[in-house]
Amino acid sequence: MNMNLDQKAALIEGATTWTTRSAPGLRALHLADGPHGIRSQGAEGDSLGIGDSIPAVCFPPAVALGATWNPGLVRRVGEALGDEASGLGVDVLLGPGLNIKRSPLGGRNFEYLSEDPHVTGVLASQLVQGIQSRGVAATPKHFAVNNQETDRMRVSATVSQRALREIYLSAFERVVREARPWAFMSAYNRVNGTFASESRWLLTEVLRDEWGFDGLMMSDWGAVDEPARALAAGLDLEMPPSGRTDRITTAIRSGELTQSVLDLAVRRLRTLAERTAAPTGIRDVAAGEAVALDAAREAVTLLENDGILPLASGTRVLVVGEFARTPRFQGGGSSRVNPTRVVSALEALAELHDGPVSFEPGFTLGRDESIPLADAALAAAPAHDAVLLFLGLPDHAESEGFDRAHLSLPADQLALLARLDECGVPIVVVLSNGAVVDIATWRNAARAVVEGWLLGQEGGRAIAEVLTGAVNPSGRLTETVPLRLEDTPSFSTFPGRDGEVLYGEDVYVGYRSYDTFGREVAYPFGHGLSYTTFSYESVDVTGDGANSWTMRVSVRNTGERDGAEVVQLYVAPPEGSVSRPVHELRAFDKITLAPGEAGVVTLRVTPRDLAFWNARAERWQIEPGAYGFEIGASSRDIRLRVEVSSVGDGVVDPLRLDSTVGEWAQHPISAPFMQRMSAGASDALSAAPELAEMVRATPVMKLTSWGLGVTEEMVRGIVAQAAAYGETGAGAEDD
Ligand code: BGC
Repeated sequence: MNMNLDQKAALIEGATTWTTRSAPGLRALHLADGPHGIRSQGAEGDSLGIGDSIPAVCFPPAVALGATWNPGLVRRVGEALGDEASGLGVDVLLGPGLNIKRSPLGGRNFEYLSEDPHVTGVLASQLVQGIQSRGVAATPKHFAVNNQETDRMRVSATVSQRALREIYLSAFERVVREARPWAFMSAYNRVNGTFASESRWLLTEVLRDEWGFDGLMMSDWGAVDEPARALAAGLDLEMPPSGRTDRITTAIRSGELTQSVLDLAVRRLRTLAERTAAPTGIRDVAAGEAVALDAAREAVTLLENDGILPLASGTRVLVVGEFARTPRFQGGGSSRVNPTRVVSALEALAELHDGPVSFEPGFTLGRDESIPLADAALAAAPAHDAVLLFLGLPDHAESEGFDRAHLSLPADQLALLARLDECGVPIVVVLSNGAVVDIATWRNAARAVVEGWLLGQEGGRAIAEVLTGAVNPSGRLTETVPLRLEDTPSFSTFPGRDGEVLYGEDVYVGYRSYDTFGREVAYPFGHGLSYTTFSYESVDVTGDGANSWTMRVSVRNTGERDGAEVVQLYVAPPEGSVSRPVHELRAFDKITLAPGEAGVVTLRVTPRDLAFWNARAERWQIEPGAYGFEIGASSRDIRLRVEVSSVGDGVVDPLRLDSTVGEWAQHPISAPFMQRMSAGASDALSAAPELAEMVRATPVMKLTSWGLGVTEEMVRGIVAQAAAYGETGAGAEDD
């Protein structure tokens, strides 16, 4: 298609907030939020979740999808999202969100799946594949290191290469390799000083050249600082349009930017239009609602239960808490969906519970304390056998746009719990919250704690089904519930100041920190109870070649109800050259079993699952040694353990001019030289062994002035030889 420079440049920003421009042979595309339902507005909508949108099924937000630990179910949610999008005329869905929950305070944690990149990557891949199976593009976001709302449009995350690779980029990598998304969204923030939307390293070298992304990269809404720099870095589409395409044409005309980068961006927009199918305009809302309900059922996470749940029939139940009547089922901001309907737990309980159900609101969802409401709940309680107390975070306490300052539930709710506790009626607490809250300080007052997250529009029914036993809970934590905020690994640095946030905990995020440093937690990563019990009977390991294994784990339902167990595999590395978490989640599967039934779960370990990111060699590396494969029901409830031995992958650190004697001794090219040197100095070294330690830490180049016959030329020669070896020598397997 013949287009002049201005016509081409016009295409690389949107036409409106939610559409791309058309051109001969290129249709305009309709974009819409968001991760858990379609927020489709007219062409001139807002991106803040303020204006109304067309009613659409509100699926459980990512916090709840994560808790299902069920890839097949999450895939169905993706398909249903794709159907809804296509039915509503949407070509590109702006999700899923894949950022890691670095701190429980993150205001957008409800839009993200986990503190762990493995579970995030596996589930997000299913969402992407599900959405795209319907001809709708998915847009994994926000790439990358967007882990807080405070100062999000400016802040620079100062983070090591290793933490980037192992924690913050790893889920994105899996999604690109496994699910091949057609679009991607860059983040607002800076990474190590450079805006993510202008980082050639992120957008081109890592994402495209290394991982093979071949889709369109769009900006987050308003994330582009300087359009020409963004385009040069690999950003193809600025959203919403800022009217600055003249900067691109000027840069090209002056020779600052080559026209080929613009041509490439236009080609990617065309490819996106070709990949997406024309929207069907046909909807099946009931089918979507059924999927939303299934997902909500599996997300409900039972944290405590002394046997009071499921409710016995005939129990006289007092439901307390406005959340039971007015559910909080999604978070605030750009992802807010206008639901097709909302099912409350109160109405579902009245229908499902075999016994009387009464209700007292107890508190309001506003900021004002209401003593009369609490008094009324207290007065009603003694005439009942159990209080179902619905507590949680109201809309004003968490949202896109700001981070929380503490983990506590609102004070009026806690005061109500304390007063109800004094009346002696058994209390079951049901929580509605988009991110972790403090539970440890009040859990003694509760006979059971049901973590209901934000469950989407059908969530009220799912909660009632769990409380009454129609559904056996099978949700598991994808984020640790800490004892105290002060225990969280990022406590001292989150959310930074003066435009910078230091990721000082490095790779020790979430359970990687708590488990490695032996810190007590309220509930560990992976935890969740069931109304039945499971025994892990045996594991059978087979090696599938170098550094790959398959495990077949036999699990039995030893209780009296049907139930589902999430079998988790953590890999514990040997001592090596770098400090590593004591173990990391590398595989999981969910299995449903009838009472007494045994089943086999198959878990795979790939070479990459043993590796860490060697920042010096700039590649993944597997060190030799004994690796533990820990299989269990949470990161702290390991039931079976096997050990395998790996010979490593032969990756060696590159030799540099400032490498030390010790490092030279380990590199295959320089080791013989070092052996000759130390043989020559063996008398001196054995006379003063402490000297040997000091010499090991000395850069070899320094030896050139020690009169030992080592010349700069020799050092440079060996470093050059080693560089050639690094390019052709053994390397980590890509997996
Ligand atoms: C959010 C994105 C969202 C976009 C469009 C931004 O503020 O960060 O997640 O997709 O707005 O609404």
